[in-house]
Amino acid sequence: LRVAVLASGRGSNLQAVIDAIEAGRVEATIVAVISNKKDALALERARKHGLPDVFVDPKPFAGRPDSRVAYDHALLDVLRRHDVELVLLAGYMKIITAVLIDAYANRMMNIHPSLLPSFPGLDVQKKAIDWGCKLAGCTVHFVTEGVDEGPIILQAAVPVLDGDTPDTLAARILEQEHRIYPRAVELFAEGRLRVEGRRVFIDGGKP
Ligand code: GRF
Repeated sequence: LRVAVLASGRGSNLQAVIDAIEAGRVEATIVAVISNKKDALALERARKHGLPDVFVDPKPFAGRPDSRVAYDHALLDVLRRHDVELVLLAGYMKIITAVLIDAYANRMMNIHPSLLPSFPGLDVQKKAIDWGCKLAGCTVHFVTEGVDEGPIILQAAVPVLDGDTPDTLAARILEQEHRIYPRAVELFAEGRLRVEGRRVFIDGGKP
């Protein structure tokens, strides 16, 4: 399975997927790590593991009315050139347009640090605390046009503790992200994910 990872920052989820592949737990190859940020730690992690790192500069596209669409065409070129079969958004902080979403329908995943459909968007660990939630967590979902709205593949829950700050809660959630994102890729690689409307079914395991 030829995988590309889109990341804008730290890349700890990228790292979790790299580790799972290197450990032989996931049968996939990361054929490109792509970023809109030149200095993204994610790109550095890619280089360290000998994976192709690609910086696609948003600057030449900025200011145009169709800048997002034009940028995504550039990304799509990269994905096609690398024969990418599955795209992982991992802390990718740009809004994706239909250009990519349609080209990779049911073949593009995102990880989000809340139990969707609660708390789409940003600063969601703080929102969970402010709401007085007793449970928080993370969600891997397929990407559709609504931000953080696509069919849910896997979720994991963690408790919200009395003393939590957004950072302590985020760290607890992140541990689970690093567990379920590689697992979702593994299920995809095994051809076990079946999407029916909003629901994703996990078909039976290997004999
Ligand atoms: C994670 O919390 C992820 O859920 C969210 O952005 C963060 C990315 O972290 N979408 P990292 O770059 O993978 O370390």
